[in-house]
Amino acid sequence: MDKLVIEGGYPLTGRIRIGNAKNSVLPLMAASLLSDGEVRILDAPKLRDVGTMAELLGTLGSPVAEEDDALVIRHEDLDRVEAPYEVVRRMRASICVLGPLLARRGRARVSFPGGCAIGPRPIDLHLKGLRALGAAIDIQGGYIEAKAVRLRGAEMYLGGPFGSTVTGTANVLCAAVLAEGTTVIEGAACEPEVGDLARFLCAMGAEIDGIGTPRLVIRGVSRLEGATYRPISDRIEAGTFMVAAAVTGGDVTLENVRLDHLRAVVDKLEEIGVVVERTETGCRVTRRGDLRSSDITTLPYPGFPTDLQAQFTALLSLADGVSVVTEKVYPERYMHIAELARMRAHIRKVGPSGVVVGVDELSGAPVMASDLRASAALVLAGLVARGETHVRRVYHIDRGYERIEERLTALGARVVREEDDAP
Ligand code: EPU
Repeated sequence: MDKLVIEGGYPLTGRIRIGNAKNSVLPLMAASLLSDGEVRILDAPKLRDVGTMAELLGTLGSPVAEEDDALVIRHEDLDRVEAPYEVVRRMRASICVLGPLLARRGRARVSFPGGCAIGPRPIDLHLKGLRALGAAIDIQGGYIEAKAVRLRGAEMYLGGPFGSTVTGTANVLCAAVLAEGTTVIEGAACEPEVGDLARFLCAMGAEIDGIGTPRLVIRGVSRLEGATYRPISDRIEAGTFMVAAAVTGGDVTLENVRLDHLRAVVDKLEEIGVVVERTETGCRVTRRGDLRSSDITTLPYPGFPTDLQAQFTALLSLADGVSVVTEKVYPERYMHIAELARMRAHIRKVGPSGVVVGVDELSGAPVMASDLRASAALVLAGLVARGETHVRRVYHIDRGYERIEERLTALGARVVREEDDAP
């Protein structure tokens, strides 16, 4: 297992290109199972999770090849319908194959995903939506077994206790595009990645209205063709590098950024004392003076994203004053607090919130990554901490950030990857 060794205290400067969105590419790859033809996904990021999804599609008889800048997916064996425990255990987004398999192959057997380091992650809304379309669903031996001869369009509400569901909307949307008749999904997730999926489905021949809104209307078609598609840029990776520039007091220009997907994030950065200027393909991030405290509440899009909560908590741990960070999407997503405390951050969990009392300086320490975004937060803290930080279990960060140490080093950070010989 590898770790990142970071020597803190170097302001980041220069330019960085943000990759395309992991959370678009994974559902897009899964949705390619719906097509009869060849799918080409352009400029997909080279991430561990993308490799895992490619492996899964391979076991489903739809191998993924890398050709120049494209992932090319062709279908060779439509009889394979099982997403095994061994893969789903490593990557929850594997659940995204459920809707496409059911709609195109009439059957799916997908290992039931459990909870994870960010809390319990039920899939009741996915199953509710698929059942509304007429699927017969059973849970047997830890697997979801779903069947349908031909799905039928239906009207449904997909909101849950924590708002809409991103991959749940993706699953039901994918199933509905090949259903007979019209489906109306109320309470659909409005995240840009769901809109991206809908546009990809339309490129394959699907008929969807209301893209980007909580009311999706889908007129079922009998088949989908192949397509060539370029996914949107990764707003969470962009937000993470914005925080990296801000926390180190640097000056970084980010390319390939959709600022229109980051309004809540830019708004918060400005409140904290960070300057974000629009450029032709992205933005330039600098800081004016000390960081100021701010209260943050995570919410479904267009609210502040839960996937940037940990990174902003690291930033606010160095702000003047007290900040309250409230997590409304995953109320248990606070594993990073205890690790940040090892670096001298002063954060207390009070009810559903983290109360962050700003300190003058963080101190480098050995810390353990618990999940993808928590590990990003620890790297950010390490960039500015006095002394050396060792972020262990760095495979988490490789799931969602491409060559993180190389890209940070190119901006002037001191980060090296080493083999971790600690038990
Ligand atoms: N929920 C339910 N029932 C369901 C589904 C979800 O109650 O059937 C709850 C969840 O427990 C949570 C909330 O609804 O409280 C939102 O969950 P959602 O289903 O939207 O999450 P997801 O689709 O499993 C995606 C991203 C996550 C991101 C969340 C929220 C992908 C592959 N994953 O997960 O990304 O945090 O949406 O925006 O798109 C990450 O990239 O690090 C990551 C965890």
